[in-house]
Amino acid sequence: MKFIDEENIQHKKVILRLDLNVPIENGEITDSTRIEKSLKTIKYLLDNHNSLIILSHLGRVKSREDKITNSLKPVAYKLTELLHQKVEFIDEPVGMDVLNKCKTLNPGEIVLLENTRFCDFPEKLESSNDLNLAKYWSTLGDVFVCDAFGSLHRLHSSVAGISKYLPSYFGLLVKEEIAGLAPIINPQRPFAVFMGGAKIDDKLPYIEKLLPEVDYLLIGGGIANSFLYACGYDVGDSLCTKDEDILNLLKEWFTKYRSKIIMPIDFAFDDKAIMDLGPKSIAKYQSVFEICKTIFINGSCGKFETERFAKGTVDLFASLKNIKAYKVAGGGDTLNVINKYHLNASFSFLSSGGGASLEYVSNKNLTAIDYINKE
Ligand code: 3PG
Repeated sequence: MKFIDEENIQHKKVILRLDLNVPIENGEITDSTRIEKSLKTIKYLLDNHNSLIILSHLGRVKSREDKITNSLKPVAYKLTELLHQKVEFIDEPVGMDVLNKCKTLNPGEIVLLENTRFCDFPEKLESSNDLNLAKYWSTLGDVFVCDAFGSLHRLHSSVAGISKYLPSYFGLLVKEEIAGLAPIINPQRPFAVFMGGAKIDDKLPYIEKLLPEVDYLLIGGGIANSFLYACGYDVGDSLCTKDEDILNLLKEWFTKYRSKIIMPIDFAFDDKAIMDLGPKSIAKYQSVFEICKTIFINGSCGKFETERFAKGTVDLFASLKNIKAYKVAGGGDTLNVINKYHLNASFSFLSSGGGASLEYVSNKNLTAIDYINKE
C-alpha cells in the first residue's frame, strides 16, 4: 500500500475520496466525527501545495427525492468552518460546472463536489463501479488519494475505479485505521465480538465468517431479535427478519455455535416491541467481556436515538472502561452514541468505519484496498 506521507505528492490537483457520510437532521450535521477524522489528510495535502477536489457519498440515493435529502452542502460549510478556509461546493458530482471549476483550480484551493451517489439515479453508476464515470472523475486531477476508510468495503467508481486511471495512494486516516485494527485482525484470546444494530441482512456474511473465528459473539438490536425469533421465541412486534431462509440459517448457526453465541435474557419494551437490552443481559455481557483480551464492538444494544432506550448501550459501553483488553468500536452509529454519552475512555481505538471495520475484521482484507493495490 502506498501512503501519501511516504511519497512526494506536491503541486498536484488531488482527487481526494473521503467518507463524509455524516448524520444530518433538518440540514444540521448532528455528529461531525467523520469530517474531523478527514482533516489530517486534507491539511497534509494542502501543506504540500496541492489543490483538492473532494469526493464523497452521503446516504443512499435511489430516487429523485433522495437527492433532496442527501446533499453534501452542509458538509462544505462544516469543512470551511473547521479548516478556516473556503471550501467551494459544486452542486453536482459531474457536469460543466465541475469541469470548469476543476480546470481553473489554484494551488491550495478546495472544492467539494455533490454526493457521488447522485450518479446512482436514474442509472446505478457509482455503486456499480462504472468505469466511464471513474474515468471522468480521473480527468479532473493528477493523482487519486483514497482516505475513505468507511467505504473501503465498497467497490464503487469514486472509491476504487478511479485508481485504474491515475497514480493512487491511501491517506492518513486509512493508515491510522489499519494500525488501530491490527490487534483485532490477530487477536489475543479470548476474543469477543459484540454485534448490534437494526438490520441483519447486511451483516449475515460477516456473522458467518466471524463465528468460527471468535470465542464469543454477543448480540443486540435487530440481530438479537432475529436470532431469538429463529430459535422459536415470541418477539412480538420487534424489529426482526421474517425471511425463512435467513431464519433457518440463524437456527443452524445457533445449534452449531451454541457455546459461542451469547443471547440477551431481558429487555426494555415499547408496547410489544423490544427496544433495548435489560440490566440482566448487560450484566451477563459484561461478565463475558471481563474474561476477554480482545473486544470488538459494532452496533448498539437497541434504539439508542430515543433517550429512554439508550441505557443498555450506554451501560454496556461504560462498563468496558475498567476491562483490561484491547477494545475497539467501529461504525457511524456506534461512534455517535460514544460521542453523545462521552464514552471514549472505554475504548483503545475508535474506527470510523462500520461495514468497513466489520469486513476488515471478518475477512482480514478490504475490497477496495485489494482493487487499488492491484491497479
Ligand atoms: C458507512 O456509513 O458505513 C459508510 O459511509 C458506508 O456507507 P454505505 O453502507 O451506505 O456504503
